[in-house]
Amino acid sequence: MGDIRLDKYLADMGIGSRSEVKAFIRKGAVTVNENVVRSPDCKIAPESDEVCYNHKRVNYLKYEYYMFHKPSGCVSATVDQRHKTVLDYIDTRRKDLFPVGRLDCDTEGLLPITNDGELAHALLSPRRHVKKTYYARVRGVVTDADVEAFLRGLDIGDEKAALPAELTVLSSGDISEITVTLTEGRYHQVKRMFEAVGKDVVYLKRISMGGVCLDEALRPGSYRRLTEEELAKLRKQE
Ligand code: URA
Repeated sequence: MGDIRLDKYLADMGIGSRSEVKAFIRKGAVTVNENVVRSPDCKIAPESDEVCYNHKRVNYLKYEYYMFHKPSGCVSATVDQRHKTVLDYIDTRRKDLFPVGRLDCDTEGLLPITNDGELAHALLSPRRHVKKTYYARVRGVVTDADVEAFLRGLDIGDEKAALPAELTVLSSGDISEITVTLTEGRYHQVKRMFEAVGKDVVYLKRISMGGVCLDEALRPGSYRRLTEEELAKLRKQE
């Protein structure tokens, strides 16, 4: 990790906004290797320098990784004029976090959040075919013929047919419950695949991505850090 400015170091770690931390530094509330430093542009080597704010050690995390349970009504973006964005739910001052991929505004479920662009890029690359599993409630009886059609790959109106997807019927009736596993991530893909077999998705939730399952203890709108094990699973997709 390269050197970074002291004010950025502290702001990234949530001590305050960039202007707030500059004021803390000038007041003498910050030490670097036990010496008070009053210059916000002092260069810090995160691996070796010891930075303290109000006598408490502040360690630098270059990357942060969260599992977010996206609620309906939230957009998979970092800014939006009309809707809440994922960042409205994450209690951090870090400015560089973003969602890994997109879920529709009305879709719930697993959405990783990070500032690690390389990992995000790998997880979203169409060439990697990272598996994503969704639970859905669908209006109408989902049949074995639908399961076969999903397995063959469906024409959903794009230049290329959707790749084969594994559809499992959990219950079939006026409203059927299913899970479906995709290896690509096209716009409205699950909804469009069901439209192609004449059915409507009435509820959609992503329950896993790249082998990492949504933690059911997380209520919609809440989040936690990814565990090392979960992160290792995501990195395996790189
Ligand atoms: N497929 C959809 O139709 N919507 C999503 O949000 C994700 C997959």
